[in-house]
Amino acid sequence: MTSFDVQANGPIGIFDSGIGGLTVAKSITDLLPNESIIYFGDTKHLPYGEKSDVAIKHYTHKICHFLLAQGCKCIVVACNTAATAAYDSVMNDDLIKVPVVDVVNPLVDEVINQDFEKVGIIATRATIRSDKYRQKLLSKKSNIEVHQMATPLLVPMIEEGFYQNNISKEIIHKYLDNAAFKDIEALLLACTHYPLIKDEIQSIVGNEISVLDSTLVAASRLKEVLVENNIENNTDQAVKHKFLVSDLTDSFKQTAAHFYQGEIDLEWNDIWKS
Ligand code: DGL
Repeated sequence: MTSFDVQANGPIGIFDSGIGGLTVAKSITDLLPNESIIYFGDTKHLPYGEKSDVAIKHYTHKICHFLLAQGCKCIVVACNTAATAAYDSVMNDDLIKVPVVDVVNPLVDEVINQDFEKVGIIATRATIRSDKYRQKLLSKKSNIEVHQMATPLLVPMIEEGFYQNNISKEIIHKYLDNAAFKDIEALLLACTHYPLIKDEIQSIVGNEISVLDSTLVAASRLKEVLVENNIENNTDQAVKHKFLVSDLTDSFKQTAAHFYQGEIDLEWNDIWKS
């Protein structure tokens, strides 16, 4: 019995503003090898981090409806910017009658579980503007100290594959060398792209600071949600993944392999045409 009227052998819908969410998709396909996914990257509109809340909400609802029309049994909002701007309104959308997992709540719970008292957050401008991470952390632990900073140069830098060099180290260092980040116990990488520079960040901040991202905790949360709702795929049907993007260029194809840590076929599907 499932409380949602969905097919347990249907795919999991995962979406992001672009290809960065493939870091989350990778954790999901690793943790749940029996599950098929439909990934949608809204490359036509990225970066969401520089868009207004109104625009991000509009994109997010439309993409969720598209994934449902593809038969997805649940949705993962892999984009931090979409999750902070639109998760609440997605939860209130009567047309979205499947479980929805995001990347923000599992990371907030991880911070609470590890009992940190002073944390730093880096993310896109829109995520920081939303203040959602701080509000959620404070609602669960009123004495937690949260310092946050937009780090907008990092997304294009990572997309260009421009990291693990002296200039990228200098940029990261410049951002993190901030009085507010002194004495933090944990640094939250609240953006799909940042796991690719996690090692670089860790080496800059030193091992006393825990550097956390959402990829594994979001995949684990998804697993729990599938089990709770009795919608894991237990059939022998072959796993089939689809990776769709609303705009397709050679550079997206190349970058996708870095983010997914393996070759994938991106298909062009411009849901905005109709
Ligand atoms: N996917 C976005 C996020 O996690 C980063 C890229 C963008 O700004 O669209 O916030």
